[in-house]
Amino acid sequence: MGEKDSKKWVLMATARSPTNIAVIKYWGKRDETLILPVNGSISVTLDPSHLSATTTVAVSPSFDRDRMWLNGKEILLSGGRFQSCLREIRRRAEDVEDEERGICIKREDWEGLHVHIASFNNFPTAAGLASSAAGFACLVFALAKLMNVKEETTELSSIARQGSGSACRSLYGGFVKWAMGNKEDGSDSIAVQLANETHWEDLVILIAVVCSRQKETSSTTGMRESVETSSLLQYRSQVVVPRRLIQMEEAIQKRDFPSFAKLTCADSNQFHAVCLDTSPPIFYMNDTSHRHVQLCFLVYCICLFIRLLDYRNFQDRWNQFEGTPQVTYTYDAGPNAVLIAPNRKVAHLLLQRMLFYFPPPSEKELDSYVLGDTSILQEAGLHSKKDIEALLPPAEAKTNAPPQKYTGDINYFICTRPGSGPVLLSGDDQALLNAETGLPK
Ligand code: DP6
Repeated sequence: MGEKDSKKWVLMATARSPTNIAVIKYWGKRDETLILPVNGSISVTLDPSHLSATTTVAVSPSFDRDRMWLNGKEILLSGGRFQSCLREIRRRAEDVEDEERGICIKREDWEGLHVHIASFNNFPTAAGLASSAAGFACLVFALAKLMNVKEETTELSSIARQGSGSACRSLYGGFVKWAMGNKEDGSDSIAVQLANETHWEDLVILIAVVCSRQKETSSTTGMRESVETSSLLQYRSQVVVPRRLIQMEEAIQKRDFPSFAKLTCADSNQFHAVCLDTSPPIFYMNDTSHRHVQLCFLVYCICLFIRLLDYRNFQDRWNQFEGTPQVTYTYDAGPNAVLIAPNRKVAHLLLQRMLFYFPPPSEKELDSYVLGDTSILQEAGLHSKKDIEALLPPAEAKTNAPPQKYTGDINYFICTRPGSGPVLLSGDDQALLNAETGLPK
């Protein structure tokens, strides 16, 4: 190591990585240490301006151990998953030289150098929105930049996978497949991009963060129990998912929303059926989640009805549109609904209904109840809480009894869209660690 003042310098890299939502779910591992799945999966990367992790990694000869701060709080780095990611990146580290600052790190020096890591999510970690996916993808991406790792993104995805399975899909924007692979060492269990975020820009994604009192079983524990006890999971991973992966890839390539929607909700339903088939059974969805599912089917019926009215040849069109879903839903290991609409027009209809049935509680302002891309609210004519109060009962609501509302069931909504993959952020002002001390700002 050659440097002017070896104790003084701190070298940093800061990155931002998105989270993702699986439309064909990963559930079950065939290898717990390497994190190898029992089936492949497909996800949509979510716009990082609404949901992402930002991570700064720093190295300095003055650091005496590896340390990490998550959302401002120091956490223990003893977990095997962090260690796996650090080890794999260090193994691939290359020489780094910063002539201006007189820093020169040889590839063999990395083994003896410690890192500081600070990570921050722009959404509540406790909301159950796949924060580990964004977090591990960001950690691996930032470390790879810091240590001048030359590997391709697919290779990085197999490292992020060892932090958290779903993290490997967050190394890309748009639509991503995690191929399960067959090799024992996991080298072919990697993520690949199916299409980038501009491929299907019209999609609107509405996340309903549900108020939940119960502590859910973690994905890691839940899927271990499913692997041990669910025979439905065996059938799913061997027979159903391989077929669905092909169909889903095709639906995405063709931007075929009806097929995409049917596969997405069918796969979410089957994942939750596997959870019920687990002993003891796991319940991730709650009453609010079930209400959202029902509402999705109502919106589908309304859209069907509106479209039917547009056509003269009633019978033919009826046949043509029958069974054509207009919005779809998916649920991960928790009660939050992720609803997907094919375009903004349908998203307006969906949001109006959501806010009619799940209005903001009196103490909450609209700008803290609907987050993310709020232009959809404006377009739907919902500028204030008064506009929500003035919403008329949706056409499907029964006329003989006032429709029931569920105030307080939802914490908030996030409007988002397909988004881009990890990026490096330049400039010390974006960093979460102090450039002089390497400690959190
Ligand atoms: C339901 O990636 O969180 O979100 O690999 O044990 O860290 P580990 O699990 P994790 O599981 C995610 C499961 C899921 C489905 C999915 O994202 O595919």
